[in-house]
Order: sequence, then structure tokens, then C-alpha cells
Amino acid sequence: MRLEEFSLERIQSVWEHIVEINLAESGIEPLRLGNLMDTCELRDVRLGYPQTNGGLELRRNITSLFTGATEEHVLVTNGGSEANNVALWWLRHENPDRDHILVELPNYMQIWGLAGSSGLRRDAFWLREDGGQWRLDIEDLKEKVTKKTLAVTLCTPNNPTGSVLSAEEIRAVVEIAEDHGAVVLSDEVYRGAELRGGMSPSVWEHGENVLITGGLSKAYAVPGLRVGWIVARNEEWARQLWAYTDYTSISPSLLGDLLGTLVLDPVHRDRILERNRRILRENWAVVEDWLESNDDILHCIPPRASAVCIVRYDLDIGSESLAQRLIRERNVLIAPGDHFLLPHRIRIGYGHNREQLEEGLRRVTETLREL
Ligand SMILES: Cc1ncc(COP(=O)(O)O)c(C=O)c1O
Repeated sequence: MRLEEFSLERIQSVWEHIVEINLAESGIEPLRLGNLMDTCELRDVRLGYPQTNGGLELRRNITSLFTGATEEHVLVTNGGSEANNVALWWLRHENPDRDHILVELPNYMQIWGLAGSSGLRRDAFWLREDGGQWRLDIEDLKEKVTKKTLAVTLCTPNNPTGSVLSAEEIRAVVEIAEDHGAVVLSDEVYRGAELRGGMSPSVWEHGENVLITGGLSKAYAVPGLRVGWIVARNEEWARQLWAYTDYTSISPSLLGDLLGTLVLDPVHRDRILERNRRILRENWAVVEDWLESNDDILHCIPPRASAVCIVRYDLDIGSESLAQRLIRERNVLIAPGDHFLLPHRIRIGYGHNREQLEEGLRRVTETLREL
């Protein structure tokens, strides 16, 4: 089976440390070690393997995000990407008679690409722009789900649109999947990165047949720790999934486990989330001004959460070509909409340094106006 290129990650892997301004980055300005602890405290840490499914304290802190969860429901992974990968592998291996997957699009395209690369038949059901909001097309899902469907996958809060599924939309998806014996696999790595309002709804609340993937890379602004997780409503599933990470990475990194425990410690957690939401709100105001000044050619449904937004442009150039031109002529990296199957759009990450964001958007405008 041929490996499909994960175009969104590829363009970032190649360019993110070369360009002057990176607006393709989908996270929030990272915390520093000193925000969590005095580095001297690390000196005596014994650098052995941690508990391979995640230290007890880390798993307990993760359960605080899901009402009624216990540490037995949680498997710690190396980032949300390992969580998605292992969840899909487990699903396939445990359900050999099901060969179809339904993926909510637009989406961070990892599951889409993994499914295509592993021979699963895949269909999309779409978030659609409707009256200034993104709404899930439930009828689309109903038409495409079958008894062969292994999983229905969600990404909420959503990368790249920044939209958030309502509890009603989630409940409808879980019910439809349940009726067909399928699992709902929900990537909730942006849960906690809301621009306003409380935590976004999770599939955790809405059914037994659910798996949640997440981690500390986005809402918590510590991607370098590589801490992710799978939370399963069924404890037996969490135990089975653990046996799969014996083959992938054995365990999270010791420092990830240790520092991740601190990030999610109630003493730090709320303060970190508040800091991150403040950055998002302040930086979104910059993007909003930019959109307003260019509203003859740019259109965007404002994100409700996440550090990214998707912008449609009325110009006669493909998004991949536009991205290459911005790299070449302006030293700026953006994520092309084509990588999300969204032509004539670009994804802007606004979670990092504000001056860089302003300068990056100024350079993007220069190129758009030349066009
Ligand atoms: C929706 C989504 N899921 C998962 C990941 C991967 O996260 P991690 O860096 O924790 O592996 C990303 C990274 O951009 C993402 O946007």
C-alpha cells in the first residue's frame, strides 16, 4: 500500500525553521520551563522509563477533564498524533470485518491520510458554511454510514476552521454510529483553547462507543513535551490500546510525563489556559482588523476555539502556488487550503508572537494585492 503524503505536515517540516515568519504553526506561543518549575529541580530526576501507559499522577490529572473518568480509562501517548495513529490501528486490528471509515472534513488530515494509506475505504461528511457558521451535515453522515463502518471520526474544536460542535451535533453523531456498531473517534486536542465561553463539549459525555484523543500540544502550549492521550469510555479498550503502544514507543518520555503532570496540576492548569486564551483573543483582534481591511477579497467565519482560522480569497491563484510564492517572495509560511481539500483558502495560525503575526499578515497582503 502506498503512503499518501501528509501534505500539511510535510510543508511545515520542510519550511518551518527556514522561513522568517511562520503563520502555518497551529499552536500557541509555547510556555517556558521556568513557567512551571525552577530548572534546578530537574537535576536529580532519574531518567529511566516512566510507567508505560503514563504515570498515575499524569493520568489522574487527565481524568479531571472528563467527568467520572478514572485513570483506568486513560492511555498516555507521544503526542496527539501517536494517539490518533494507535487508535486507528487498534480499531482496524480488532474489527477485521469492517473496512470503511467516515471522516468529518475539513480536518487535520492525519486520520484521512492514514486511512487512505492503509487501504480503508474512506468517505467524508462535511462541516458546511451556513449563515456565518460552520454546521455539521448530519444528513450527509446518515447517507454514508453502513454496517461496514469501523469508525466515525470528529475533530472538535476543529482544525482548520476553529469551529466547535454543539452537544446536540455530537449526540446525533454518537447515536448514528452506535446504531451501526461503529466507534466515534474524536480528536479534541484543541479543547481548552476557546476564545470565549467554557470548555467545548466532548464526546465523552455522550455515549459508550467513544474514544477521545488529545494532548498538551495545542490548548496547553507545550508541544515539545510530546504528551498526548487516548481516553476510552470502556476501560477494557484502554487496556487493549496500551498493548499497542508496546509496539510503537513503549512509553511517553520521562520528562514529558513529569512536566505534563505539572501542566495539568490544578495549581498551574487554569492559569495556563487563561494565559493561552488571552493570547488567542488579543491576536485574533489583529487578524480581525486584517480581514476587515481586506474584506473586498478575504472572507472568514470567525473561529470559536483553536489557534487557526481558514480564510477564503477571491483571487485567481491556487492555494499551493500562493503558499510557494509567499515562501519565495516574502519569507512567510502559510498552510494552503488545498491541504484540507479546501481550494482558494489559506489557513492562518494566530497563536504566536503578535508582532510577527502583524508583519506576516502585512506581507501576505502585499502579495495578494499584487495578484
Ligand atoms: C487536530 C490535531 N490533532 C493532532 C495533532 C498532532 O498533535 P501532536 O503535536 O500532539 O502530536 C495536531 C497538530 O497540529 C492537530 O492539529
